[in-house]
Amino acid sequence: MILVTGGAGFIGANFIFDWLSINNEAVINIDKLTYAGNLQTLNAIEGDGRHHFIRADIGNRALLSSLLAKHRPRAIINFAAESHVDRSIYGPDEFIQTNVVGTFNLLEAVRGHWSGLAKDEKTSFRFLHISTDEVYGSLAPDGAPFTETNRYEPNSPYSASKAASDHLVRAWHHTYGLPILTTNCSNNYGPYHFPEKLIPVVILNAIASKPLPIYGDGQQIRDWLYVKDHCSAIRRVLEAGKVGETYNVGGSNEKTNLDVVSTICTILDELQPRNDGRSYTEQITFVADRPGHDHRYAIDARKLERELDWRPTETFDTGIRKTVAWYLANQEWTDAVTTGSYRQWPGTHYGD
Ligand code: NAD
Ligand code: DAU
Repeated sequence: MILVTGGAGFIGANFIFDWLSINNEAVINIDKLTYAGNLQTLNAIEGDGRHHFIRADIGNRALLSSLLAKHRPRAIINFAAESHVDRSIYGPDEFIQTNVVGTFNLLEAVRGHWSGLAKDEKTSFRFLHISTDEVYGSLAPDGAPFTETNRYEPNSPYSASKAASDHLVRAWHHTYGLPILTTNCSNNYGPYHFPEKLIPVVILNAIASKPLPIYGDGQQIRDWLYVKDHCSAIRRVLEAGKVGETYNVGGSNEKTNLDVVSTICTILDELQPRNDGRSYTEQITFVADRPGHDHRYAIDARKLERELDWRPTETFDTGIRKTVAWYLANQEWTDAVTTGSYRQWPGTHYGD
């Protein structure tokens, strides 16, 4: 079996769905269930004997050590993190606790477990760390996309904490020989994305007749990747990645924020027109910019393509249409998230 951390969050949950749709190998899912963790997201695999959920903090080394000894996973995929840049600006503490101290404790628990394995198990074991393109900092408009050898220049408390975790993972390989892999991915979007991030905020605000907030002039650029494509990249790196290596993952879909929001409005105009017949673009509202806002991210994913034969399957046009349609069709999930009722779900569903 494999062990996934942060599997009640956006990418972790999508990864588990993707994994179980093509694999019979069981998944242990360890998640602290912060505000971003949502067990309702996992309803689709309720009762599936291949999925085992355990509420735990990656910073709880003793508990993790006992879980590793009990379940003996052949691989760990570390998604668990505080992930929202704006929250990191208002309150960086949790970002340091989970992304830095938590990753450190997880690495120590894993190192203790891995050291005691028999030679063959030790060789085939993998620790795959999920990281972000934000560790490379901000690109000039004409700058070449980030490669794996770009200097780390994180600018926000979030990206600095992720950069620190990447360095710990790297050091645990170089010093102790832990068989690690790291992926640095661009902006994901798709089903179950928490509505604090741009794309779900815009879709849900639009249909609720609320303003669509664009920071600054909306000319910042992100490289968007449909979440299922990220999942396939992770599977591929786990399967065939070279131990100790880093792989950049991206969709080659550079868009300004204003373009992203306008595209969503156009799709909504078609799929769920406003009652007054006007365009959702009329709800666009320019608001104060994010402090220290990185201007541009772009990923050069040619290493992953060349060495592991991975390519994304969705373009931004196909992926964003699927995403908007998903949010329109999954009102129960979005209502539970926007009203906060999903936070009562573990108690309602599992009792104590
Ligand atoms: P998310 O915020 O949606 O989910 C994070 C999950 O981790 C939640 O379920 C949360 O409960 C859990 N968690 C938080 N702290 C924990 C702790 N101390 N112990 C155990 N579980 C904990 O995040 P996401 O968007 O799914 O991102 C997953 C990973 O991918 C993160 O490491 C993030 O840095 C990285 N990443 C995200 C993107 C993106 O666009 N969303 C892009 C590149 C990389
Ligand atoms: O690049 C990968 C990163 O992408 C991940 O590591 C992060 O976990 C993930 O949250 C994401 O970070 P961003 O800051 O790029 O994503 P966010 O959706 O918060 O913002 C996308 C862009 O849209 C960014 O330039 C800020 C802007 N924005 C965001 C929000 C929430 C707005 O203009 N208005 C908004 O309301």
